[in-house]
Amino acid sequence: MHDQPKFIPQRGTDFYADGRSVRPQVDNTVARGQLHEDTYFYTGLVNGKEADALPFPATLEVLERGQERYNVYCTPCHSRVGNGAGMIVQRGYRPAGNFHTARLEAAPLGHFFNVISHGYGAMPDYSAQVAPVDRWAIAAYIRALQLSQNAKPSDVANGGHVQPLADIEKDEEFPAGFASNWSLPGTAVYGTPNNQDNDIPGESITSPGITGNATKSNPAPAAPGTSGTANPKQ
Ligand code: HEC
Repeated sequence: MHDQPKFIPQRGTDFYADGRSVRPQVDNTVARGQLHEDTYFYTGLVNGKEADALPFPATLEVLERGQERYNVYCTPCHSRVGNGAGMIVQRGYRPAGNFHTARLEAAPLGHFFNVISHGYGAMPDYSAQVAPVDRWAIAAYIRALQLSQNAKPSDVANGGHVQPLADIEKDEEFPAGFASNWSLPGTAVYGTPNNQDNDIPGESITSPGITGNATKSNPAPAAPGTSGTANPKQ
């Protein structure tokens, strides 16, 4: 039983002329499932440069899949609106990319594919968790997110009507100020170590999580001892 006629990994053998038990790959063959013939689909690159195209049609199904995967894998850091102020960032992680900057709005789809595939700065890669087809779906969904945060009346098809937020507030009988930026109550627990500003360009997350439009005018945390605020300075 102990001495079976088998090869043990990395051990030599006198069975083959080259003395190795591991057989070299046969030239001009590709392992099953690893053909990757469609280079753009697997790299997002054309002539070594990130390109701006989805390798398949952007259907509603693709966007919904992208939204679902984005909400699973990206929101913890980038938040549901993609402003980079997700829960992990609120708890002290390096501010994640804000997708609503001019640079990332202009970034080609291949860039998002590549960031997911290889990581970016402090961001780890998600190649093990997110298959290439889903990376593209997420990239497509991020484009939709970018539009959602920056839509103008001129983006609406001819004859379409865009209702101002303030009118919606009135029509829906929401409390006054509902459509304005919200501020957090003084008892809110602030996320970053020492409550410092995370300094995301064009964005402040001193009011975490409530809206994608948090502004610098939000109140400071309550005075020491009056709330459950976790502030290491106290
Ligand atoms: C663990 C937190 C975390 C998660 C989860 C995460 N990211 Fe990031 N992401 C970051 C951080 C942090 C940065 C900024 C990196 C830096 O500046 O060093 C970043 C930056 C980015 C950027 C900007 C790159 C640039 O050119 O500036 C993109 C795009 C991005 N992430 C996409 C994604 C997508 C898509 C997902 C989900 C598959 C995701 N991220 C998940 C933390 C995260």
